[in-house]
Amino acid sequence: MKQKFAPIELSDLIIDVFSDQINPSPTQIATVSEEGMPEVRTVHVRFLKGEGALGFNTNRESPKWKSLKHKPFIAGCHYSPHRFIQFRFEANVEFVEKDCPLLDEMWNTTSPEVKNWYWDKKERHPKFAIVIIVPYRWDIYELGSDLSKGQRTIYRSNPEGWSAQKVSTLDSKPL
Ligand SMILES: Cc1cc2nc3c(=O)[nH]c(=O)nc-3n(C[C@H](O)[C@H](O)[C@H](O)COP(=O)(O)O)c2cc1C
Repeated sequence: MKQKFAPIELSDLIIDVFSDQINPSPTQIATVSEEGMPEVRTVHVRFLKGEGALGFNTNRESPKWKSLKHKPFIAGCHYSPHRFIQFRFEANVEFVEKDCPLLDEMWNTTSPEVKNWYWDKKERHPKFAIVIIVPYRWDIYELGSDLSKGQRTIYRSNPEGWSAQKVSTLDSKPL
């Protein structure tokens, strides 16, 4: 079965990176505003076991939520400093905003600090929602011991599965 988040050869690495509780790195996600302008911010993208997908939580009255409802696409960039790997993705998104076990899973695994700071509540806030990220393109850049040894592979989703293409780290041309 085709997975919702990545080609099979990347899945262990991606699950590992986006489940990392010890060294979680934030992800920058870009959207397009209703006025057609680019916008970017940091979020905590996580692997959601219950859904077998990547996602982040947010307030469904936030500007990003409005932008995503208008144009349901995300470009994201995550750098894992412990692995020396950059993960870029382009994705469709799906919305989870009605009561369901996944919202509870996300709420229950959100840190107490975030719950208090952003939501000021012990119970799940009614505006607490999830954006599910469904990538159709991954660009994985593994830095080498020096710049000339870096490796970059672009994965594209297509109806048959995923294709992989090694590309130059300098000009993105196929190798
Ligand atoms: C380290 C870090 C992690 C963050 N994680 C989230 C997150 O998971 N979800 C979220 O909605 N905002 C998160 N934020 C706040 C957003 O970057 C942003 O400031 C806020 O959500 C408003 O964005 P918007 O105006 O584009 O909707 C985080 C900020 C930082 C610095």
